[in-house]
This record gives sequence, structure tokens and C-alpha cells, in this order.
Amino acid sequence: MSFTILGTGRAIPEYVLTNDELSTMVDTNDEWIRTRTGIEERHICKKETITELCVEAANNALENAGVTAAELDLIICSTMRGENLTPSQGCMIQKEIGATCPAFDVNAACSGFVYALDIAAGYFERKRVKKVLIVSMDNLSNITNWTDRSTCVLFGDGGAAAVLGEGNDLLSIHITAVGNDAAIRIPHGTNSSPFYEHEEERAVLYMAGNDVYRFATAAMTNGIKKAVEDAGLEQKDIDCVIPHQANIRIINTAAKNLDIPRDRFFCDVQHYGNTSSGSVPIALDEANRSGVLNKGDIIAMCAFGGGLTTGSCVIRWNK
Ligand code: COA
Repeated sequence: MSFTILGTGRAIPEYVLTNDELSTMVDTNDEWIRTRTGIEERHICKKETITELCVEAANNALENAGVTAAELDLIICSTMRGENLTPSQGCMIQKEIGATCPAFDVNAACSGFVYALDIAAGYFERKRVKKVLIVSMDNLSNITNWTDRSTCVLFGDGGAAAVLGEGNDLLSIHITAVGNDAAIRIPHGTNSSPFYEHEEERAVLYMAGNDVYRFATAAMTNGIKKAVEDAGLEQKDIDCVIPHQANIRIINTAAKNLDIPRDRFFCDVQHYGNTSSGSVPIALDEANRSGVLNKGDIIAMCAFGGGLTTGSCVIRWNK
């Protein structure tokens, strides 16, 4: 047994940061950002905390699934940085939505949602759970270097959740990691020990953009190929691809390399930028709620990110 997706929900901060406003902060312009990334705007937390957004996404997904918090057997939150080091973000969500089940966090950067699905699949396989909530949320504006034009234009805040129930709709799943702190790295930033001898670094994102670009295009192409093969399907059987929304050019390149028509790739990067772990489930929720997905559709999801990690899977949409 694997699982079926019973419902999805997202939470996006209210404030919209446009390319034009960014152009007043760093030496960039709308045309460069649109043509190099496809991003037109992103949402940024001003008043919202990550816990508030997680709770909103969780409640939206529970409502969409017709499941109550009391029915949950497990909560997995994928995030790079929750509200606190402890309690985990998963425990904060459990407290706020009124659930009583075990809860924990997983950090696989932008691949976090697919990693969480894989972990959940193991719990269903072992018959330890009947209902699982996954919440994938990051607050990247908090660790963005707002003076670095090569990275600050790429990211946004927000995330989404999915409620899983018993079923057989996960057809394949594949996760990878290659330990690498040269391509993408975000240091912790603080160390309160008076004994520690290393210099403190700012807790902001460092990225070698071109290296990540090469990794990302290969990861998306190979990840989808592998997940489709493992599902015993052909690429033409995929009705919808939900790719990580990092850069429209990465999605276009993957589409060219694969035997899946470009119009089957769901894209919302123009409105959100790269929201890290929130990216794939936000797109899944948009596709769910906008009627793009039909019962029985075969969906491929694929993500890549810091770590370096990748995650890809094929699921049957049964909602
Ligand atoms: N506005 C204007 N110019 C910019 C700019 C900005 N925001 N950012 C960089 N530039 C300039 C560079 O300084 C460079 O100028 P130069 O030629 O005078 O040196 C020029 O634009 C080209 O830079 P380059 O880095 O080669 O651009 P690119 O087309 O490779 O695009 C990224 C850069 C970051 C958009 C691209 O590499 C990328 O998307 N990488 C993957 C990032 C990613 O997905 N990260 C998250 C992974 S989860």
C-alpha cells in the first residue's frame, strides 16, 4: 500500500513584491528578471509568521480533504528553518490545529515535499498511519541577501500542504542527495558559545547560479525520466507535470529533453518565484483548485535544491 492524496491547501503572504519595486533596491530591471527567470512578482512575509502560514495551509488542506485534525496520525513539515530550533515546526502546527499525533520536520531544501511524501509512504507501507498531513513551508525572505541582485530576485515566501490517506496512488518515487555546500549554502548565522573559535557568517543564501542551473536542468530531466520508468509508464502517459518552480528556463529545457508536451508542465513561477519546499505543493494546489487536474490523471512531480537534493515521483490523481 502507498497512499492517495485526499486534499491540498496553500498559504501565501499578502505583500506582493514586483520586479519594478526590486529594481529600486538593487541594480536590476523587470526585463532582465522576466527573460532570465520568468518571474514577475513574489510574495513576501511582512505580518505573517511561518507558523501562521503553516496553519493556514494545513487547515485549507484538511478542509479540501474533508479530514479533521483529530483524525491525523502523523504530521511532517518540510522546511529549512522553522519558527524555532525546538519545538519543531511540525509540533507548532500540531499545537495550533489541535491535532494530537506525532510531528516532526524534514529539511531537504526545495526537494522537501517529495522527501516528505517518500517518508509518509513508508509509514503507510508499515500500516502505522491512516491519515498524514504534510506541510511544506519556507520563509526565504528571511535569509535572502537583499543586496545581491543575482539571488534576491529569485525567491519568495509561501507554502502548501497535502493530506494523505490510505490508497495505491503513489506509482513511483525517487530521492537523491549529493553532499555539496559550494553550489547553495545558508549558514546558521549565530553561535552563542563563548568557546567557539570560528568566525560567524551571515545567515544569508550563497549560490553559484550557473552551477545550480546545470544541476537543475539535468535533475529535472533525469528525475522525471526515472520516476516515469519506475512507474512502468511512458513519458507520453503523463497528463501533468508539477515541476519545482525555480526558473521558467529550467522547466522549458526539461520539456525539450522529454517526450512530454510543454503545455502539460504546470507553471506559476511568474507569481511566486522560488518558494523552496513550498514550490511543488503550491503548484499542486493551484492545479487541484483550478480544475487542471482530472480524476485518474497521471502526475509527475520533480524538485531539486540545496543539499544538493532531488526528488521525483509519479502519482495517480484520485480526487
Ligand atoms: N539583474 C540584472 N543583471 C543581473 C542580475 C539581475 N538581477 N543578476 C545577474 N545579472 C548580470 C550578471 O552580473 C551578469 O553580468 P555580466 O555579464 O556583466 O557579468 C549577467 O547578468 C549574466 O549573469 P548570469 O549569471 O550568467 O545569468 P544567467 O542567465 O545564468 O542567469 C540565474 C542567472 C541565477 C537566473 C541562473 O543561473 C539560474 O536560474 N540558476 C539556477 C538558480 C536556482 O534555480 N536556484 C535555486 C535552486 S533550488
